[in-house]
Amino acid sequence: MSIDKDYLKKFIRTTEMAAIGAYPFIGKCDKNAADQGSVDKMRNELNLIDMKGEIVIGEGEMDEAPMLYIGEKVGTKKGQELDIALDPLEGTNFVANNLPNAFSMLAVCEKGKLFSAPDTYMEKIAIGQNLPRNLLDLDNSVEKNIRLLSDAKNKSINQITACVLKRPRHKKIVQSLEKLNVKIKFISDGDVSGAISVAEPKKNIDIYLGIGGGPEGVLAAAALSCLGGQIQTRLVLDDEQLKRAKKLGIKDTKKKYNIDDMIKGDVIFCASAITNGEIVDGVKDLGDKFEVSTYALHKEFKIFKKIKNYHVKK
Ligand code: FBP
Repeated sequence: MSIDKDYLKKFIRTTEMAAIGAYPFIGKCDKNAADQGSVDKMRNELNLIDMKGEIVIGEGEMDEAPMLYIGEKVGTKKGQELDIALDPLEGTNFVANNLPNAFSMLAVCEKGKLFSAPDTYMEKIAIGQNLPRNLLDLDNSVEKNIRLLSDAKNKSINQITACVLKRPRHKKIVQSLEKLNVKIKFISDGDVSGAISVAEPKKNIDIYLGIGGGPEGVLAAAALSCLGGQIQTRLVLDDEQLKRAKKLGIKDTKKKYNIDDMIKGDVIFCASAITNGEIVDGVKDLGDKFEVSTYALHKEFKIFKKIKNYHVKK
């Protein structure tokens, strides 16, 4: 079974409208307002789509998020049963501070095929295409993983580039990378783009590693699943989060998730840029209309495209 081909353009429109929703807040130092702008638009659009949709990764649990909460049903209740992971605004700081790489994004799988990760931190390690399955492992030392990758890519270690989210919690990882003489590309936020960058040959990133958001890990897995990359993840849970994870039905809370554990079967991934991105350009106000660019993927139909659409202002 696959997701009907017609859904792709509907989900592209969904992230495009969400990006337009955040656009007025670029550089306005108010990340909550920006988030709300994109949430409102995304929810409206989702509810216009003929599907029996359910949010499995969203803005939070029902008691903390009034819209697009986990378990919320979306769509017209006609059509395919679909599970949706979404982040209406990935990179709230980027929009608030008018910095590149803010996106509205979502991933869609058939019912029951998308990992419903709790909103906690997650360890992640991602690599690109054409590498042996399960080459790397979160339980290996950084050194071992880098050596395995360098051998598999036939590339010397000092030519390997690792993308890392700049956070104090990554001090040890960074020290290990420095010791190995690996090139590091730091990002300040936006680890979905960071993880996906391993499958974008032009970016020349060989590995993404470190701890970021759990929902962002699943979104990255969706894109990498379409692109033929790999990602392994493991939840990072405190006591309270352990309870929440169990509530979501996660029995083995120390489990390492490979890409096929998170994304089972077909998947659609759409990311519309709000501010200029490395993958696509940000929203442009053309006076009477907006121009919005989207990175859109549909695994089953081998669709990988960067698309530009125009939306007349209302
Ligand atoms: P927001 O858009 O929700 O602010 O998330 C940005 C982000 O950088 C994610 O890409 C990343 O997974 C997460 O924050 C990292 O969390 P933290 O800032 O707490 O280290």
